[in-house]
Amino acid sequence: MAYEHILVDIEPPIATVTLNRPKVLNALSPDLIREVNVALVELDANDRVGAVVLTGGPKVFAAGADIGDMADQTAVDQLRRDQTGRWAGIAAFGKPLIAALNGYALGGGCELALMCDLIIAGDTARLGQPEINLGIIPGAGGTQRWPRTAGKYAAMEAMLSGSPVTARRAYELGLVNKVVPAEMTIEVAKRTARQLAEKPPLALRMAKEAVLKAFESPLSEGLAAERKSFYFLFSTEDQKEGMHAFLEKRKGVFKGR
Ligand code: CAA
Repeated sequence: MAYEHILVDIEPPIATVTLNRPKVLNALSPDLIREVNVALVELDANDRVGAVVLTGGPKVFAAGADIGDMADQTAVDQLRRDQTGRWAGIAAFGKPLIAALNGYALGGGCELALMCDLIIAGDTARLGQPEINLGIIPGAGGTQRWPRTAGKYAAMEAMLSGSPVTARRAYELGLVNKVVPAEMTIEVAKRTARQLAEKPPLALRMAKEAVLKAFESPLSEGLAAERKSFYFLFSTEDQKEGMHAFLEKRKGVFKGR
């Protein structure tokens, strides 16, 4: 499909999705989010792609939902279009999704990054939830994912003050995996994606699902789900290949079967 607001670059075994509305600092309009959703559904089904990098521009990852588009909306408009409910497909992507952030990741931009599995931040990155300054609160997961990752007090400070944190502070808070020089961000994210794309795809999918389950269920339920996936993986060719490759002292080659 041809996209208007994003770029999709497939370089097997990885793909890169780039938010591309530079004039409005990659403001996340409903059309842009729809395109990201469609692209991820296509990439999920593409066997040549094992992991995906999601990035923005060199100075801004994304400055949040499109304020111009929302300013005169009513609550009923928002409910009818389910503005942020439509982002759920992004969090449901089954392959590793790695955010590569340079510059501002604000509002929905920060929430979009927090839907990814790993975050590589350039040293220029600024993560924040400035919605309070607009008379609203985050609506795409900010109030829920920040405390689960950075704890109550850092989350409260971010939501109530609206002030962004630096990449270094985000790292200290456990909000990002790595801080790298800004010019290296995409390269490091792509290198990480390539490393993950070599792993057994079904086990990757189930590992991701199991970790996400930890945020949503009591321990006993999470452990039961983990156990089921663990047993299930013994029905795959990749498990046989992985274990025999280890015993034969060679590198496993995985097929996602
Ligand atoms: N929506 C629409 N347009 C935006 C935008 C946004 N979120 N962010 C920036 N723009 C536009 C500006 O209006 C401006 O347009 P013009 O050139 O036509 O004037 C252009 O992008 C450049 O922006 P600035 O001149 O403001 O650039 P700056 O470098 O001085 O500042 C910034 C950068 C700090 C990111 C500032 O633009 C900013 O604060 N943006 C808004 C951030 C924000 O409040 N995000 C939350 C949105 S609500 C949300 O996301 C809800 C949710 O949870 C889903």
